Amino acid sequence: MIDWNRAADGYARSFAVMCAGAAPALLDAVGPVPAGGRLLDVGTGTGTVAGAAAARGWAATGSDGAESMLAIARREHQGVEFELGDVLALPNADDSFDAIVGNFSVNHTADPRRAVAELVRVAKPGAPIAFTTWGRPSALVPLWQRVIDESGAARVPVDRILAELDFQRSEAGLLALLADGGAEPVEVVEIEWEFAIAPEGLWAAAPAGVAVVGPIYRAADESTRAAMRTAYDRAASELVAEDDLLHVASSAWLAFGRAPRTAS
Ligand SMILES: C[S@@+](CC[C@H](N)C(=O)[O-])C[C@H]1O[C@@H](n2cnc3c(N)ncnc32)[C@H](O)[C@@H]1O
Repeated sequence: MIDWNRAADGYARSFAVMCAGAAPALLDAVGPVPAGGRLLDVGTGTGTVAGAAAARGWAATGSDGAESMLAIARREHQGVEFELGDVLALPNADDSFDAIVGNFSVNHTADPRRAVAELVRVAKPGAPIAFTTWGRPSALVPLWQRVIDESGAARVPVDRILAELDFQRSEAGLLALLADGGAEPVEVVEIEWEFAIAPEGLWAAAPAGVAVVGPIYRAADESTRAAMRTAYDRAASELVAEDDLLHVASSAWLAFGRAPRTAS
């Protein structure tokens, strides 16, 4: 699994920019803010969704398992509450929140069903629960593939969720995940957005150890790392638009359900 504490700075500069594109859809899914509404953003990372929720009027709490992520979140979103919390064993009391969101976090836990069960447990009866996960292969895969091929870097085994605990990245798979976690499934939709990022920012994913390229970069020796960087610079220079940014099309699944009406 990714060492998120070590990844935080590089993640903030790279994939946090990509993930931010899903925040409006997640917050739209959970609907209008009830009076005094409390929202929990699990696996908040650098706090993007919790910050956006607070801007919409939610009393937002962001929780994450990595202190380094929380340090960035607290710096960037002052006035939002951030706390250490494992999605698989949240520190919050039962029936605490009026809405729960998780942006690309449930899929990063070792046991996504247990994660959904925790979201249900801390949600008030009937509260909306929405989370995202990746669907179609990222448009960045060809770029990382080129970096790996041109540098000759060796692939490394990818850490995956144990097969018996994993879920299908499909509409049916996510509806089943909601139901298996004890939520009332409502719908699963595919969302799309485009994000723009400077090549230097996206490259930060490699030393941070995230994305396809991260674990390979981290396992490589110094000369291979240099070759990867050279290959990346060459590829990125060919892909940037006139504004010197990479424009990347992204898509994800958004799963939406509700906590059961009777208290959990
Ligand atoms: C891909 S990042 C997404 C961060 C953020 N939601 C965003 O949209 O940028 C995944 C986050 O989930 C957190 N995470 C992974 N497993 C976790 C767990 N079991 N408990 C709490 N946080 C976890 C990581 O620390 C990381 O911040």
